[in-house]
Amino acid sequence: VLGDRDGGGRGRAGRGARRSPRGLALEALTQVEAGARANELLGRLLDRCGLCERDRHLVTELVYGTTRMRRACDWLVSTHLRTRTDPVVRAALRMGAYQLAFMGTPAHAAVDATVAEVSGPGRSVVNAVLRKVAAEVDRGLVTWPDRATMLSYPDWLAARLVYDLGADVAWEAMEQMNQPAKANERPDGYIQDPASVAVAAHLAGFLGRPGARVLDACAAPGGKASALCSTDDPDRLVVGADRSLRRLRRMASNFARLGSPGSVALAADATSPPWRQASFDLVLIDAPCSGLGVLRRRPDARYRVQETDLGRLARLQRQLIEAALPSLRPGGILAYCVCTLTKAETAAQDNWLARAHPELEALPPPPEPFVPAGRGGLLLPQAAGTDGMYLLVTRLGSAGVM
Ligand SMILES: C[S@@+](CC[C@H](N)C(=O)[O-])C[C@H]1O[C@@H](n2cnc3c(N)ncnc32)[C@H](O)[C@@H]1O
Repeated sequence: VLGDRDGGGRGRAGRGARRSPRGLALEALTQVEAGARANELLGRLLDRCGLCERDRHLVTELVYGTTRMRRACDWLVSTHLRTRTDPVVRAALRMGAYQLAFMGTPAHAAVDATVAEVSGPGRSVVNAVLRKVAAEVDRGLVTWPDRATMLSYPDWLAARLVYDLGADVAWEAMEQMNQPAKANERPDGYIQDPASVAVAAHLAGFLGRPGARVLDACAAPGGKASALCSTDDPDRLVVGADRSLRRLRRMASNFARLGSPGSVALAADATSPPWRQASFDLVLIDAPCSGLGVLRRRPDARYRVQETDLGRLARLQRQLIEAALPSLRPGGILAYCVCTLTKAETAAQDNWLARAHPELEALPPPPEPFVPAGRGGLLLPQAAGTDGMYLLVTRLGSAGVM
C-alpha cells in the first residue's frame, strides 16, 4: 500500500489523472524497480500514452537516464533522507536527482514538476530532499565516494571490467555506456546497432558459394540472420533458430516484414540440435551472454546481471559451441559472437576452443575498430560509439569435427 508509512507517497499517474511526461515516467520507474524490463515496458507505455513526440522523448530520457544513473541518484539523495521511502517516493527522488545532476534541468522546473506528481505524505519528503540536492548541485558541492558510484555501476561490475580490460579502457567503456544509444536504421528499415551490422557484414564475406546453408542457432529477433539473407543468391538458405517461442514469433514477423529471402524461423534448443549433421556451411552462435556491451540500450541490465551469472553463461556458451560443431560441413565456418566485454565470455572462450578443438582454424578477426582479443576481435563501445561486441570466426578442417 502506498502512502501509509513515513515518507509514503502515491503517484498521481496511478489514479487515472491525465498523463504528464513525468507522471508516466514515474509510473514506469516504479514498475522497473518492481522487476519490469525498462526497454520492453517503455515501448508498451508509450504506445498508448497519446503524448506528442517531444514529450515521448522526455519520458524516454527520464526513464532510461534515471534507471541508468540509479546508483548515482541514490547517492545524491541519501545524505538528505532521514525516513524510509516507498517505491513511488524513491522513484520520484531518483527522477528529480537525475534531472538536476545529469539533465541540467533548472531547479525550479525539476523540483516543482516532480513534486507535483506525488501526493500523500511523501510529497513533502520529495520536495525537501530535492531542494537540498538542487542547492548542492547548483553550488558544485557534490562529492562522489568513488568512480563506480559516480558512473552508477555496481562495484563488482566495475571491478570486473577494470580487471579484464585494464582501468583506462574499462572506465572509458563505462562512461561511453552511460550515453544514450542512437537508433541506426538499415536500408531495409530494420533498426540494428552498427556493431551487429559489422558482424553480419564480416560473416557475409565468407558466403561466396552460391546456395550456401547458414544457421544462426540463437537467432531471435533475427537481426543478424536477416542481414545474412541474400537477394543476389536465390538458393541461399538461412535458418534462424531460437529456443524462446515469444522471441521466435518476433523473428518470424521480422522475416516476413523484411521479406528476408530464403529465411526460415525454427523453434529449437541449440544445445540439442534437431537438424542433420554436417548440413551447414556457416553456423553462427550469437550466444546468450551477460550483455555488458549493450548497457546503453538496456539501462536496468547493470543491476540485473549478477557476478555469479558469468560462470553459468560461459558454461552455456561452450555447450552451445560443442553442440553446434557437428552441424558444420567439413571446411565450414563456425562463428561465435557475444555482446559483452568480460574475458570469461570472450578471449577465455577462444583459449578453451583452441585447446578443445584444434581442428578449428581461426580466421582473421574483423577489421578496425575491432581490436584483437585472443584470436577474435573485440569492439569496445568507445571505439566507434556502438554496442560492445566480440566475434571469433573459425574454419573447420576438411577432416571434420574431432
Ligand atoms: C544475443 S540473442 C540473439 C540475437 C540475434 N542473433 C540477433 O542478431 O538479432 C541470444 C538468443 O539466444 C536464445 N537462446 C538462449 N538459449 C538458447 C538455446 N539453448 N537454444 C537456442 N536459442 C537460445 C535467446 O532466446 C536469444 O534470443
